[in-house]
Amino acid sequence: MTYPIEKIRADFPILNEKIRNKPLVYLDNAASCQKPQAVIDSIVKLYSHDYANVHRGVHTLSVRSTDLFEAAREKVKTFMNAASEKEIIFVRGATDAINLIAQTYGKANIHAGDEIIITAMEHHSNIVPWQMLCEEKGAILKVAPMTSQGELLMPEFEALLNSKTKLVSVVHMSNALGTINPVEKIIELAHARNIPVLLDGAQAIPHTPVDMQKLDCDFYVFSGHKLYAPTGVGVLYGKQSLLEAMPPYQGGGDMIRTVTFEKSTYAGLPLKFEAGTPSIAEVIGLGAAIDYLNTIGMDKIAAYEAELLAYATQAALKIDGLKIIGEAKEKGAILSFTLGKIHPHDIGTMLDSLGIAIRAGHHCAMPVMDFYKVPATARASFAMYNTKAEIDVLILGIKNLIEMFG
Ligand code: ALA
Repeated sequence: MTYPIEKIRADFPILNEKIRNKPLVYLDNAASCQKPQAVIDSIVKLYSHDYANVHRGVHTLSVRSTDLFEAAREKVKTFMNAASEKEIIFVRGATDAINLIAQTYGKANIHAGDEIIITAMEHHSNIVPWQMLCEEKGAILKVAPMTSQGELLMPEFEALLNSKTKLVSVVHMSNALGTINPVEKIIELAHARNIPVLLDGAQAIPHTPVDMQKLDCDFYVFSGHKLYAPTGVGVLYGKQSLLEAMPPYQGGGDMIRTVTFEKSTYAGLPLKFEAGTPSIAEVIGLGAAIDYLNTIGMDKIAAYEAELLAYATQAALKIDGLKIIGEAKEKGAILSFTLGKIHPHDIGTMLDSLGIAIRAGHHCAMPVMDFYKVPATARASFAMYNTKAEIDVLILGIKNLIEMFG
């Protein structure tokens, strides 16, 4: 496979940083990815030449900003292969999107005694909004279990589906384990019973091509900042028929058609769900990130990262005392691990002294930590710009650390 790794690395200015006098080895991509020059330039260009508020003005700058903003929506639509740009709602991030669905679709459709199914490997953002809704409505949250490898137990998942199930909300790729869930099968099983499916794609979409029309999920959410775009922007994809039937989320400017003191009527999709001035520069930056990814190709990125993960896993398995947390057969580029009694925070701090950035903690997935009976893990997460040489630096760092701690 030809993969332009040198060119890609040159496109990310931050990769030239020295951390503690060492070349930066950035392996905290699951928390947030670095930004290519093209994304940075798109923001500088906007604020230097084209910026004004969107959807409001007739003056030239407002038209320019609106055109760039709506062009970004079109890019997201094509990137996800959604059927219409009306299905692309800009939000703050994946968390915001799930809360939106809980507070609109959930409030309208989930009642006392109804059930929502999630899995044992969810991020807090796909647990807490449902707990809040269940508490308010008297509904029940059911959790599909997983194996010690971190794979969903499909017969147990299927057994949970019944006439009371009103929604299945599942992570596409786990941020704590790397597991890629069999989402096609999950959708097939749920749809056979007319149950809608929401996929939390925050981790999956930077690593693998996604196709809304092929997947046929009902909702798909992700955050821009994990997809090489700025923070403060994310996407809620929803099937048009569902979004049309849903009540609005927040009220305010841009989401209305008419307002009187007696009554307001709402705008059509997608603006119905976009109250207030949106994250204009961030949305345009997301469009630039997608343009950039398209120049390389998500298939190529996925294949390259699979090689990186296989290389890192092989090397990690050879380290005495290192335990990999999350060994699903289908995995994205995440290596979570523990090192016996060495606390993950010490691992993170020691690796930082070598210029290596990883995340140590519960990764906003406390139930996953409880399941493995660990307080936290160390997590190296890879992106399109990482290299095997960087993994060598990580592995050497871990070995030194083990020696140091005896
Ligand atoms: N959810 C992000 C992570 O996994 C922040 O680190």
